[in-house]
Formats: sequence, structure tokens, C-alpha cells
Amino acid sequence: MTNLPGKPISFWIDSTPNINFSSLTNQVTVDVAIIGGGIVGLTAATLLKRAGKTVAVIESRHIVTGVSGHTTAKVTSLHQLIYADLIKQFGQEKARLYAESNQAGLEQVAKFVEEEQIDCDFSRQSAYTYTDKEDNLEQIKQEVEAAVKLGLPASFVRETTLPFPIFGAVKFDNQAQFHVRKYLLHLAKRIPDNGSYLFENTRVEKVEEGSPCQVITDKGIVRAQDVIVATHLPILDQGLFFAKTYPKRSYIIGARIERAKAPEGMFIGIGEQYRSIRTTPYQDGLLLLIGGEGHKVGTVSETEEPYLKLEAYARDKFGVDSFEYRWSTQDMVSFDKLPYIGKLTPLNQHIYVATGFSLWGMTKGTMSGMLLSDLILGIKNPWAELYDATRATPFVTPTSLKENVDVGIHWVGDRLKGLATSLSEVANGEGKLVTVKGEKIAAYRDTQGTLHTVSAVCPHLACVVNWNSAEKSWDCPCHGSRFSYDGEVIHGPAVKDLEKSM
Ligand SMILES: Cc1cc2nc3c(=O)[nH]c(=O)nc-3n(C[C@H](O)[C@H](O)[C@H](O)COP(=O)(O)OP(=O)(O)OC[C@H]3O[C@@H](n4cnc5c(N)ncnc54)[C@H](O)[C@@H]3O)c2cc1C
Ligand code: FES
Repeated sequence: MTNLPGKPISFWIDSTPNINFSSLTNQVTVDVAIIGGGIVGLTAATLLKRAGKTVAVIESRHIVTGVSGHTTAKVTSLHQLIYADLIKQFGQEKARLYAESNQAGLEQVAKFVEEEQIDCDFSRQSAYTYTDKEDNLEQIKQEVEAAVKLGLPASFVRETTLPFPIFGAVKFDNQAQFHVRKYLLHLAKRIPDNGSYLFENTRVEKVEEGSPCQVITDKGIVRAQDVIVATHLPILDQGLFFAKTYPKRSYIIGARIERAKAPEGMFIGIGEQYRSIRTTPYQDGLLLLIGGEGHKVGTVSETEEPYLKLEAYARDKFGVDSFEYRWSTQDMVSFDKLPYIGKLTPLNQHIYVATGFSLWGMTKGTMSGMLLSDLILGIKNPWAELYDATRATPFVTPTSLKENVDVGIHWVGDRLKGLATSLSEVANGEGKLVTVKGEKIAAYRDTQGTLHTVSAVCPHLACVVNWNSAEKSWDCPCHGSRFSYDGEVIHGPAVKDLEKSM
């Protein structure tokens, strides 16, 4: 067994109490039903309730334990390198709206913290995108030029407080970082009462549009005039968001660092091998968070490897050796670089979605809450057109849709050929795909020797799941659904468990 660094839990979750809200019993009626208790759902619920609407947040597990409970929690409009590209792809006005809306998301977080005096380690920080390779310097300079043109607080710097030399960096002033769960749990506590609700352990299975809409859950029905589907990737397939985005999983480790050795600010490198770096208050000192090693969900089985690489990097570059945490999570990356925020389809008048944050959902998720609450309240919003979730996506065609699913079926399906055909080949502590009499079985034998077998076919759109060894889960390479070793759905878009097998 490889020794992995730190406890396998998100620092944000480990350092906050478990808060329990009751499940839905029977049925309720509200103005707006909000499915999903992450940053999108809780921000939208807070704004709508403040505007006088009654809301019901419906969460399948516990709030802020999804992606928002596992983020790096930088709150910034500096999204690695994007502005030069956006200007090229969409023109200066649309790029300016992207910049403005993300700055607005950042300032909305600051406003909630200030107004409600939220104790969530919120601090203003500079954000940097750096390169340690001379070849990339031109890209950095172009990004600074683009960002300045769009009115962002950007400058070019050659030095930072990182303990290694860089060639140059984009610096954004007056950005922020926070403890995401302290912040969101505070917002959540204010939601129930006066006709509004927050339900946990209540899984939504279906939404029927009508007057009112009906949100059908495993515990009962919520009726509402409008519905926001804030389930990360929408659980409803009609908008084809699973084909307009792809799920990227990425890893984070947390190590104790002396204040004198800690860098000041929030940092991210460029290219696929980037590292994301920040610190956060921890006990009487600081915890250094380092993220990276991203890959498409379900395409890597030996998921110990990314943690070991991050550990080696942290030791080498920062001289740290006391590793406290490790965790990982995933986000939907939008193929055209813009998130999808708005109506589910052109035919839907009352069902809304927000997805495709491309690993920058603290500002985009907050901004989604602002935009969706404006749409529901009938307030004109300057960003609505840019992020319109029903916008034309020429890259999504019937052929690409078929390919999208086929790729997943084949990627893992091919690996079934020639693999285990008998459950006796699954060793203790191992997860394996096994074909028995033509049935694809996902088999895990725990360390005590007990075998857990479920169908390997994802209930979403029938791709074959793949084993994730560090997290002991079955991950779907098609659209990112994840299941525990015994088949319980732990991440959508699937709304059903893997079927029991044998
Ligand atoms: C490694 C990593 C680091 C990141 N770091 C940053 C960062 O530093 N800054 C930044 O801006 N962004 C960052 N992001 C991105 C950001 O964390 C996400 O974009 C954001 O948290 C997504 O929020 P959400 O509300 O859409 O999803 P979630 O937080 O996942 O919320 C969705 C909720 O819906 C619930 N749900 C799902 N299905 C159902 C159902 N059927 N019924 C009821 N409820 C359901 C889930 O349980 C979940 O609680 C990072 C992403 C990754 C992968
Ligand atoms: S997540 Fe879509 S097929 Fe598995």
C-alpha cells in the first residue's frame, strides 16, 4: 500500500461542523425550487429570498459537500489565461462582459461577507498567473494587455513571493480568498423559515414544467413557479449540457507551512501541468494548498499518483513535510470557454440551469446566482445574452453527440476485452471490471475480503464506469457521474445508483 500524504478529506469540510437539515416529507409549494446546495444554489436562494420570494433548496446529500466543498476557494476574475483568447474569439465587448460579471461575482461575495459579518477567513489578495518558462512570456504579456484593455486591475510583474524564480506573471489586485464552507453554511442557515425551506438527503429524480412546475424527489414533491437546476452538471438531459462540456477532475494537498516561508497571494501556473497555490489560516499558522494533475474524469485508475506528484512538488519547492490533507474534485469545462447560465432549453419558460464553470466557479457560481435571480425576478441583466444556456453551439451535432457517448463506451469497453472474466481475479483492496457471461460487472473486494459487485453500466446514458483507486469509487468517463464502491451515486448527472449485480 502506498503511503499518501494527509487525511483523505477536504480541509473545508474537516474544519466545519456537520450541519443537518431535515428531508422533505410529502410536499411543499414555494415560488422557486432550487435543486442543489452548492455555491450556485445557495447564492440564488439567498438573493431570491432577500427579494421576497419563497424558496426551497433541495439537496440530495448534504449541502456544500459537492464540488463547492472541495474547491481551492480563490475568488478571482483572473482565470489562468483567458482574456486575450476571449477577445480573439468573441470580440472586446463580450470579453468585457465576462470580466465585468466575474468582478461582480467577486464583489457580491465581499458584500455578503460585509453585510452579514460572515466569519469565513475572507481576505483580499492579489492573484497571479505565472510562468517559469521563458517561452511562455509572450502569452503572459498578451494576457496583461488584454486584461488592462478590458478595465481589469491587471499588471505585469517579474517577481512574486513564490520561493522559486519565474519569468513573469499577470497580477490582478484586490481579488479575494475565503473558507468556502464557513461562508456558504452561513448563507444556508438563513434560508429556512417564513415559507422557505432547505431539504437535505432528498434526491430530485425529475422535473415537470407546468403551472406550477413539479419537482419530483425520492421523498415527495415540491411545486414551484420556477425551478433552478444547480446540480453542477444539470441532471436534466434536455439541454444537452453533457455534450457541451466535459468533466475534469483535479487534486489538492494541504501541508503546514511556516508564515515566514509562505507565499503571499494566490497563484496559478499555465499549461496542462500547472500548479494552483494559496494558503489559508490553519490552527495557529497556515496551511499551504497545492492543486493540479487534472484529467478527464474516469480516465485514470491509479489516482494515488497525482497526490504523490503534488507531495513531491510541495517538498521540493516549499520545503514542507507535514502533510495534513488531500482531496480531489471535478468541474465541468465548457468547450467554448463560457459558462451556460439561463433557461434549460428555448422551449422551457420556468426551468433554469448554470454549469460549465471550467474550474472558476466561485465567481461564476456567484454570478450565476445573481443572473438567475434577475431572470426569475424579471430584472434585465447585462450578462444574460453572453451566457445564454440555449446559445448556438455549432460543435454539438447528432454525430458529436453519438461520439460523445461512444467514446466513453469504447474507452472503457475496450479495456474489458481480455480483462478479468472471473471474480476470483479481484484481489483484496482492488476494484476491477469483470465480464461474466456477457454482463459487465464493477467488482470491488474490500480489505476484509468481502466482494461488492454492481453493474458497470452507468445509469445516466449507459457508458461503462472505471475504478478510481485512491477514492474507492466508480467514475464514469462520459459525463462525470461517480458512484461509491457499492454503487451509490455520489456525483450526478446520474440520479440512480448502479444496479446491484449477481
Ligand atoms: C480541484 C478544483 C479546484 C477548484 N478551485 C476553484 C477556485 O479556487 N476558485 C474558483 O472560482 N473555482 C474553483 N473550482 C471550481 C468551483 O469549485 C466549482 O465550479 C463550483 O464549486 C461548482 O459549484 P456548483 O454549485 O455548480 O456545484 P456543487 O457545489 O457540486 O453543487 C451541486 C449540488 O447539487 C447536488 N445534487 C446533485 N444531483 C442532485 C439531485 N439529483 N438532487 C438534489 N441535489 C443534487 C450535489 O449533491 C451538490 O451538493 C475548482 C474546481 C476544482 C475541480
Ligand atoms: S455520466 Fe453520462 S453515461 Fe455516465
